[in-house]
Amino acid sequence: MAVKSKKQKRIAILTGGGDCPGINAVIRAVTKKAILEYDMEVIGIEDGYDGLVYNRHREIKYDNVSGILTLGGTILGTSKKSNPYRFAIWRGKNLEFEDMSKDAIKCINDLNVVCLVCIGGDGTLGIAYRLYQDGVPIIGVPKTIDNDIRGTDITFGFDSAASIATEGIDRVHSTAQSHHRIMIVEVMGHNSGWLALSSGIAGGGDIIIIPEIPYDIDEIAGKVKERYKKGKKFSIVVIAEGAKPKGGDIVIQRMVKESADPIRLGGIGFILGEQLEKITGYETRTVVMGHLQRGGSPTHFDRVFATQLGVKAVDMIVNAKFGNMVGLKGNSFVKVPLDVATGGPKKVPLNHRLIETARSVGTCLGG
Ligand code: F6P
Repeated sequence: MAVKSKKQKRIAILTGGGDCPGINAVIRAVTKKAILEYDMEVIGIEDGYDGLVYNRHREIKYDNVSGILTLGGTILGTSKKSNPYRFAIWRGKNLEFEDMSKDAIKCINDLNVVCLVCIGGDGTLGIAYRLYQDGVPIIGVPKTIDNDIRGTDITFGFDSAASIATEGIDRVHSTAQSHHRIMIVEVMGHNSGWLALSSGIAGGGDIIIIPEIPYDIDEIAGKVKERYKKGKKFSIVVIAEGAKPKGGDIVIQRMVKESADPIRLGGIGFILGEQLEKITGYETRTVVMGHLQRGGSPTHFDRVFATQLGVKAVDMIVNAKFGNMVGLKGNSFVKVPLDVATGGPKKVPLNHRLIETARSVGTCLGG
């Protein structure tokens, strides 16, 4: 049933998981449309699901969202660790997990909201789906620099992160050229290669390594040597943090025990660098783009896209399309059931046009 009354309906917004450019643009769009067109009251849940469990929230007034369109991060705070269904609690030196979902649901019920808008990646939206199954009216908005959410062509934050990674690749070109070195740029993306592939193509990487194509070190070394023979005494390698060699494994940088997805990737670029230097004899350096990719102001694309997503999310609230996420398919905004959106990471298909494009311009994909 559609939300009928225009008088003081309340909605809540929550931002969960890793931050990225564009979150504030969504918060702004949801808040402005909800207030301007429907006279709704908007509540911001603080620090992701922590705020639901610990009952921490505040009203977001129209004036609170003025000037946040271009702001990085999230004005509401976020958490990559809090999951109401498996809530991490340290008791002295012991880490224990408890089901705190009843507290989270009570918080929502006490707030008397008609909908909780969850802005997040697969982890956050997966929890949102469970809350929906437990009776909470949810609308999801897909957010991640990894672009790995199913049911949408793209997530907001991806374009900004890819632009930052591209700038990083651009900047290592001149130093690679001057020193006749191999420069390796490691980018984020979790277990998907969208960020590496897209920024690698945009930055003219000679070799792009993604998790979907386990790499053969000899093939990469061969490409570098071939370039030398042709007089190109430098090579740029773009590698995804989730990449792995053929028959080998991913590189884990750290484990975050409290997190639902505890593995933090990182370091494959250094391993590749050592191997390449040994095989080719050419001096090699590795740069890790890391959290630079998540910081700062969103690109033009992400500002417009995030604003559209926020506006569409309010349309979905008004039409009571709960249990869905707003996604983009071609030129249309679509509603994607949350269970579909969170049915595992969206990987780069091996027949994807970006893979074909990279190969067509002579880029080595390592396998
Ligand atoms: O999902 C976004 C992301 O930035 C991944 O690309 C990366 O693997 C991970 O989060 C890093 O997590 P953290 O912020 O906990 O270091």
